Order: sequence, then C-alpha cells, then structure tokens
Amino acid sequence: MLGKLRPVGSRVPRPGCSAGVKLSWEDHYRTEFTGSGTEALSIAVAIAMAHRPEVREPEVIIPAYGCPDLISAILAQGAKPVLVDLLPESPCMNDAQVRDVITTETVAVVGVDFLGISERLDVLSQVCRDRNLFLIEDSAQSFPPASSDRPLADLVVLSFGRGKPINLMGGGALLIRREIVDRSLAVLGRYPLSEVVTGLSWKLKRSVFNLLMARLPFFILEKMPFLGIGETRFRKLKTISRLELPEALLSSAIFEFGARPLIHKLYDRELQSIEVFGWKLLGKRKSESTGGDPDTPRLRYAVLAPDKELRDQALRSLNRSGIAASAFYDKTLPHIEGVEEALKEKPFPCADDFASRLMTLPCHEDVKESDISLIANIIRGIAQN
Ligand SMILES: Cc1ncc(COP(=O)(O)O)c(C=O)c1O
Repeated sequence: MLGKLRPVGSRVPRPGCSAGVKLSWEDHYRTEFTGSGTEALSIAVAIAMAHRPEVREPEVIIPAYGCPDLISAILAQGAKPVLVDLLPESPCMNDAQVRDVITTETVAVVGVDFLGISERLDVLSQVCRDRNLFLIEDSAQSFPPASSDRPLADLVVLSFGRGKPINLMGGGALLIRREIVDRSLAVLGRYPLSEVVTGLSWKLKRSVFNLLMARLPFFILEKMPFLGIGETRFRKLKTISRLELPEALLSSAIFEFGARPLIHKLYDRELQSIEVFGWKLLGKRKSESTGGDPDTPRLRYAVLAPDKELRDQALRSLNRSGIAASAFYDKTLPHIEGVEEALKEKPFPCADDFASRLMTLPCHEDVKESDISLIANIIRGIAQN
C-alpha cells in the first residue's frame, strides 16, 4: 500500500476535553508559557545572566550534539555557547569536560534530555553547585521533565512544537524554581505577553494538521523538497514573547499523552537480539536514565548501529519499506550549516561518532505491532549479515 509511517509527532488535542490536570512540577516550579521552546531557553539564559551581573562575556555550556536552536537561544542574549563532547555511545554530556570548560564567565550549564531519555541531572547539578552556576534542563524532547520528580534544575524548558511530546502546534514553557522566581521577575517583564486563542481558525489548523499525519499524506509531503521535512537548520531567534495559554488545552494534551502506548518497550523486546552484533539500544539500561519515569512514552526510539555504513544501510532499507527511520541531526553542531562561524573548531570525537551511528525509529501512537515486526526483521537481517 502507498504510504509511509511518519518519523515522529502526535496528534494535536481537542481543547477542553479534559480540564484540571495538575502539572507534575507545580510544587517546585512556576510555569511561564512562551512563544516556543527556543524562546523559553533564551529567557532561561537571560535569567542566569541577570543573576551574575558582574560577568561581561557570559558563556553557556551545551552538548556538541543537539538541536541548533540551543545556539540561537544563547546568541539571542549576547552570550557565547561553549560546546562539550558526549560520553562514549551516550547522549549525555561528558561531565569531566564540563568541569574543564568552566571559566569565570560561565553562567549556566544546559542538560538536554534526549528523545525521552533524561540527562544525568544529578551529576550536572553537583558540578553546578560546586561552581555556583545555573542548571537548565532542556526537556523539549521529554515529558514530563526529570525535574518534576527531583527538582535539580533551576530552570526547565518545555516545547509544545510539532514533533514534540506535547504537540500544541507551537509554544513552549519555562519552569522557574520557586526560590528564584522573585529574582527573575524583572527579566520576565522584558518580554511581551500574547494570548493563544483556540477559535475557529486554530481548530481548522488542528484538523488539517492531524489529517496530514496519516501515512498517505506524509508520503506525499515528504516528496516535496521545498517543505524541507526532517531537515536540521540553524535559524536566528528574532523575537521572544510570553504566552497566555488556555489551561484546558495543556490539560487535554497531558491527558492524551498519558494514554499513549509504550512503543519503546516493544522495540526493546524485538531488537534485543541485535545487541550481540554491536548495535546499541539507547535508554534501555537504567544508568542512562537518571530521572523521569521509564514508563512514559518516548519521542523516538534511538539505536546506535556499529558504524555509519550499517546505519545508512538500515535507513535506506527501512525508508524503502515505508518506515520513516531517521539519522536525526546526522551532524554535530559545528557541522550544521550556519552554525560554524559562531563556534570555535574543536574535536568532539564521541559526539561525531554518535551522530554518524544514530538511527531513530517512530514511537508515536500510530505505530502498529506489524510495523515493529517489519522494522525488527529488516534491522535483524542487516545486523546478522
Ligand atoms: C532539545 C531541544 N531544545 C529546544 C528546542 C526548541 O524548541 P522549539 O522548536 O519549540 O523552539 C528543540 C526543538 O527541536 C529541541 O529539540
């Protein structure tokens, strides 16, 4: 049958079908809605900078493999992104290197949760405490944030964009640890407030958006190069705003998120046999997941192939069979177009290795058991050859 299983993304909820879900972080953090996750991160950087007014050229530490929006958010505040390598075969930052790159100008460390796998916030928060730095948890790809359970981060970023765990077709949130709210109000006040109206045009957009997620429309949309589906691009952050978001909309989204199937558990089971051939299933072992609930849905399922050649072979076979498996960012941040000039060239061997071997598999509510069987058969065939 003609069609293709999309790589990521869940349906936008109907506003107001569920009201009054308690936000799991509410006891520890105040929620400030923003125009996007990038904007939330940029405000987080501004808050960290405001707490260290003596710093002239603020620096923010981020992983060398990740979303280029992290760079945009930092540059928008006039700060400098400082990249750090990953641990071998892991999406987590190398904490020894984090310690090495800290200077008197460092104001914050951003720990990025990866496709539903938490960063090691306990390790990073120790580093930050020792050096009096802010810890920002970027939970754009994970829901709920790990800091819901243990409020280790000073600031937490959420994204409600397309392809994120909570899809409201845009928007984001900044969670501010209650102890620092008063000191952050002046920064928040710099950014204008606008209202999200879920009127007729929003509802129409939602319907069209949800329709386009089906296999046939995705197959057609992917063939249109000008849409740039799946491309990673660096874009400057030009405006930052706060949002008034209807509570019932977020409640509905959280309610629907909680009802999603735990597809990653099926992959864990079906792909377990390829590990003896040097493939690695990420997030399966406890040591990689320090926070959050292992029983919450993942954004995508992440696998490391033994090398780039086998990864690319698996990607080609899966895509030919109607499964939008993806190399995700494919490159480390210094190699993404438009980013280079902003950063010093330095080697990031573990991040480069990770980028060249990573493959992500769909994990959303439309993945069927038959898709998993097909995917597992293809990958097992390549692994055993
Ligand atoms: C880790 C991470 N942080 C921040 C963002 C930016 O979020 P938004 O697209 O809502 O601006 C993204 C977007 O993909 C992301 O993956």
